[in-house]
Amino acid sequence: MAIAFRTLTEADFDDWVAANARGFLENPARTADWSARARPLVEFDRAIGAFDGDELVGQTVAITFRMSMPGGDLPTAGVTSVTVSPTHRRRGILTELMRRQLADVRERGEPLAALWASESVIYGRFGYGLAAQAHDFRLDRRYAAFTPGAPDPAAGVRFVTREAALERWPALHERVRRTRPGMMSRDSGYWSRIVLHEKEKPDDGFSASQLVEYTDADGPAGYAIYAVKAAWPGALPAGTLRVRELTALDGPAEAALWRYLCGVDLIETIEAPDRPPDDPLPWLLADPRRLRRNPHDSLWVRLLDAPRALEGRAYAAEGRLTLDVRDPFGPWAEGRFELTAEGGGATCRTLATSAAPDLALGADALAAILLGGVSCSTLARAGRAEGSPEAQRLADALFAWHAAPWCVDEF
Ligand SMILES: CC(C)(COP(=O)(O)OP(=O)(O)OC[C@H]1O[C@@H](n2cnc3c(N)ncnc32)[C@H](O)[C@@H]1OP(=O)(O)O)[C@@H](O)C(=O)NCCC(=O)NCCS
Repeated sequence: MAIAFRTLTEADFDDWVAANARGFLENPARTADWSARARPLVEFDRAIGAFDGDELVGQTVAITFRMSMPGGDLPTAGVTSVTVSPTHRRRGILTELMRRQLADVRERGEPLAALWASESVIYGRFGYGLAAQAHDFRLDRRYAAFTPGAPDPAAGVRFVTREAALERWPALHERVRRTRPGMMSRDSGYWSRIVLHEKEKPDDGFSASQLVEYTDADGPAGYAIYAVKAAWPGALPAGTLRVRELTALDGPAEAALWRYLCGVDLIETIEAPDRPPDDPLPWLLADPRRLRRNPHDSLWVRLLDAPRALEGRAYAAEGRLTLDVRDPFGPWAEGRFELTAEGGGATCRTLATSAAPDLALGADALAAILLGGVSCSTLARAGRAEGSPEAQRLADALFAWHAAPWCVDEF
């Protein structure tokens, strides 16, 4: 039977939840609480299903976000819940879902789509480029001493209630988001239902979220959300502290929060998944090799409208580049563009000329350099961009940014 595609509705919710659990190898009993909380956040008009008869066999949904850019902010479709039933794999269902979803994103006028991939082999073929990486940290607390010169702010870290966090942290997060590319906007529902939900999945042994805030003379300057799990092998304390989020306005706030998290008694291991590649923790520690770091891809970005995306960020250098952008999956996004960066911003116009461009690269490669997470010359060394050494160096200077891209929300 042919596969039919249509927009999902509220009536499809239970099937959508079951398909997510099956696709991501989750126990539905464990995800029931999350699903109930997430329900009001699902934008059903952005959910596409693939049906074999009445059976939902493939799906994806998009979230309406704004993603921070270097010195800017752009509407972005946050692609999530992508799954195809194990009974219907490798028949092109994902490919058709991607095609339809990108058509919808274009129609909505969003210049970018972004996602976290379960496997890094999947999305390059659909024009997504690896735009941000993250590091999973793991530290044995016995080796968590700080360097003698590390900031040791006098002001304090205190526990706060969920209500106080809901009142103060969204504005703090938004201030940090404006300084760091790759971060997604959060609405109040996302804060209360996802970020500050009251309990972790019930059976993994971790406590409810602990909420701490760092305050300096000007008020709240950072916060951390973490959970703990006790362990007493042979009567020795060997607990684990897992940092769910640490967000801070400046160095003293980051140092104060890391000092606090590294100082909780009865903890043996500190885990902090998905930290930004430029997190200061390795530089705060006296014995940084003891901080085990596992780097991995986090945010994949796809261009829908290259000129708008390029004009939507700031540039730390000035110069002009012509770009030839190829896009096999989305020919509507291809073209020859002239980027002129000056005065901190840029204009980008489509060119009709067939004259040789300064740089030729795929839309996925352009998406990868857009947030400043990788340089053009690195991609050229991997055969993913072509241009003279001068053009590569100019692109490196234009696209570089002082803060590494980071996406704290795994959506
Ligand atoms: C990933 C997934 C959605 C792919 O769906 P699908 O309908 O089988 O994908 P398609 O048939 O459209 O595949 C398109 C191409 O991608 C390749 N591909 C798809 N998934 C792949 C994977 N996991 N590993 C390697 N190649 C993959 C296919 O081989 C095919 O290649 P081809 O064009 O050269 O023939 C599906 O396997 C799945 O649900 N996985 C579990 C949940 C998951 O990981 N979802 C992604 C969340 S980000």
